[in-house]
Amino acid sequence: MQVREWDPAAAPAEGLKALLRAANLAVAADVPEDPPWRPDSFREYLSVTMPDERRVSWLALDGDDLLGYVSILLVGDVAVLELLVRPDVRRTGVGTALLGAAATRARAEGYGSIGVEVIGDTPAGDFFEAQGFRCAFVEMRNLLDLSTVDWTQLATMAESVGSGYRLEYHPGGPAESILDEYAKAKATMRLNPAYDLELRPSSYDSERLRASLATLHARGLKPYVVLAVHEPSGTVAGLTEVVVPAQRPTRADQYDTVVVQAHRGYGLGRALKARMLSELRAAEPQLLDVQTWNAVGAKAVTRINDELGFRPNREWREYEADVDEVLRRLGAPADQAP
Ligand SMILES: CC(C)(COP(=O)(O)OP(=O)(O)OC[C@H]1O[C@@H](n2cnc3c(N)ncnc32)[C@H](O)[C@@H]1OP(=O)(O)O)[C@@H](O)C(=O)NCCC(=O)NCCS
Repeated sequence: MQVREWDPAAAPAEGLKALLRAANLAVAADVPEDPPWRPDSFREYLSVTMPDERRVSWLALDGDDLLGYVSILLVGDVAVLELLVRPDVRRTGVGTALLGAAATRARAEGYGSIGVEVIGDTPAGDFFEAQGFRCAFVEMRNLLDLSTVDWTQLATMAESVGSGYRLEYHPGGPAESILDEYAKAKATMRLNPAYDLELRPSSYDSERLRASLATLHARGLKPYVVLAVHEPSGTVAGLTEVVVPAQRPTRADQYDTVVVQAHRGYGLGRALKARMLSELRAAEPQLLDVQTWNAVGAKAVTRINDELGFRPNREWREYEADVDEVLRRLGAPADQAP
């Protein structure tokens, strides 16, 4: 077996096809309730990053046979890992070899820690614990099967907002005219200590938000936004964001839902999410379900998700480790001072 650095932006189509096949075998083995990946914009999904981020990728190969894949996204002060080994060759050291390549590069790039999102009830938890990672944060992934939604009741929920507020629907992302206000509302999430380690990208100023939207589009991820405007002040009181990936167009990802502290208690959270679902039904008729994540124990959002028909599905666990500790366990030589 050989671990080779791989550039998905320039790679021949066969490599991408083999990776897509391996990823779908892993989905079927580990998360059978999830839809398979499609080839649409798969290359862009793997290769495009935010302007200030970089992703480095490797393949594990046996001759031409693709056994596994790893990448690190170099962002902030954490290297965020994605790792995948084809189910029929697991427990033979492929994952360990790929992790070794990624951790060695992370150290060479000056990164002190590695983070990874692990799906609950899959072998990955045992793997990362065996490699010295610790679980830093647990979220619950919730799924809403759209065939179970009572659309009439949902329409009523979408209209139930306190007076002085209106909801706005922005397919493609928030309009340019509202970006500053939008970024301010998102920044309030930073004040919530229960929020996660931010392994998923979030954007808190209008310039970064603009870059983030461009990156989403370039990766084949179509954003949708519904926001609540506080009419007397013209400020953004709340927002919810969904992305429909070209690679998995039947499953929408509902990312952030935020209601600014001063505007809580007016039904905005529920109305935002309800309005989003009815817009998605019209805009993306192929959608079968929507997934969303919330911190375990986050009562308000859990209640809203429950009312809308979301059902808890699996834990999403964020693990982290010191790069040096990972390499030490792998028996890599100690870092050489430059
Ligand atoms: C996690 C994953 C990458 C591990 O790959 P792998 O090639 O099987 O891992 P290795 O053979 O190098 O395993 C190294 C050690 O991890 C532990 N481990 C791995 N899988 C395990 C399992 N199913 N149960 C218990 N321990 C396990 C063991 O200690 C193992 O050593 P051993 O086989 O000598 O006992 C693989 O299961 C996978 O692709 N999972 C799906 C994708 C995923 O969830 N990725 C992580 C998030 S991006």
